[in-house]
Amino acid sequence: MRKTIAVIKGDGIGPEIVNEALKVLEKAAVKYGHHFAYQPVLAGGCAIDETGQPLPKETIEACLASDSVLLGAVGGPKWDHLGGDVRPEKALLGIRHALGLYANIRPSKLFGALANACPLKDEIIGNGLDLVIVRELIGGAYFGKKEIIEKNENGEKAAYDTMIYSESEIERIARVAFDMAGKRRKKVTSVDKANVLESSRLWREVLHHVAKDYPDIEYSDMLVDNTAMQLVRNPGQFDVIVTENMFGDILSDEASMITGSIGMIPSSSLGDGSRGMYEPIHGSAPDIAGQNKANPIATILSAAMMLKYSFDLSEESEAIENAVNEVLDLGYRTGDIMSEGCKLVSCSEMGNLIAERI
Ligand code: IPM
Ligand code: MG
Repeated sequence: MRKTIAVIKGDGIGPEIVNEALKVLEKAAVKYGHHFAYQPVLAGGCAIDETGQPLPKETIEACLASDSVLLGAVGGPKWDHLGGDVRPEKALLGIRHALGLYANIRPSKLFGALANACPLKDEIIGNGLDLVIVRELIGGAYFGKKEIIEKNENGEKAAYDTMIYSESEIERIARVAFDMAGKRRKKVTSVDKANVLESSRLWREVLHHVAKDYPDIEYSDMLVDNTAMQLVRNPGQFDVIVTENMFGDILSDEASMITGSIGMIPSSSLGDGSRGMYEPIHGSAPDIAGQNKANPIATILSAAMMLKYSFDLSEESEAIENAVNEVLDLGYRTGDIMSEGCKLVSCSEMGNLIAERI
């Protein structure tokens, strides 16, 4: 199989972790006889430094011309003083929007070898933790009308963002969640704030409508504040959580942390076609950038997700996941997941160890 992959290394630890993912991807390509062409493109802070804008036109064009996008991380303190439209984060939002990637899939799973990294008590975790957050990614307050009003009626500065959703935007993400639950433990929890927000009341109405098409899936609604609490009280109750953009942003950080290893969690952003964008859910970690210390596993697992979801290469994808599990079982750890009796390795050593086992 021949595929073109747009590669955005980005900022901070982005280049280091993406290099390891490419190493592993290339090993899988050679072993299984595929040809992947990697097209490096600029986005984020490094793009601001070189071109003055976070998402150059050539980057969007290259992403649209590729079969998938692999991204490290963007942003850092160097660009924090910049205004909304020229921040590195704008690059992420722009690619999501330009590629129509409305469904962000964020799994939270406890890795057997890392069970002791989980910050929750054993009795809370019970029989493990394996949930997926399906986050709507190109609607809501992120993309609704927003404005800074220099002087409002009281003569003060004010600002607003609009959380707006249409029925069709809600319906398509709902279907992603129900379809996914069908392949898992058949349970969907839809998260909203329907006791306060109109957009949430519409969300709930559409979800109930879609649920009727999936009679074998257990469906329930949950308010977002309660969900935040339930995630630490009894995370085992969740299978698939579906929610709007900003609630999903917040809850997915919380859900990743209860696995104890945010450095391990991949994500995919998908639209209607097979092209997706794949990235670790952690950020650019500027404090450890350039020190060959970062954990590349979330990015390596993101590449594995790409093989499965965009290229339909399940066997190759599993080969990468198995290699990761083997290396963890052997006790190799980067600093963020290090524990007593384990062997500390660098970012590139971790990449080598995983690649060797493909
Ligand atoms: C994420 C990030 C982004 C988001 C930021 C960097 C724009 O937090 O992917 O979760 O809010 O979507
Ligand atoms: Mg986030």
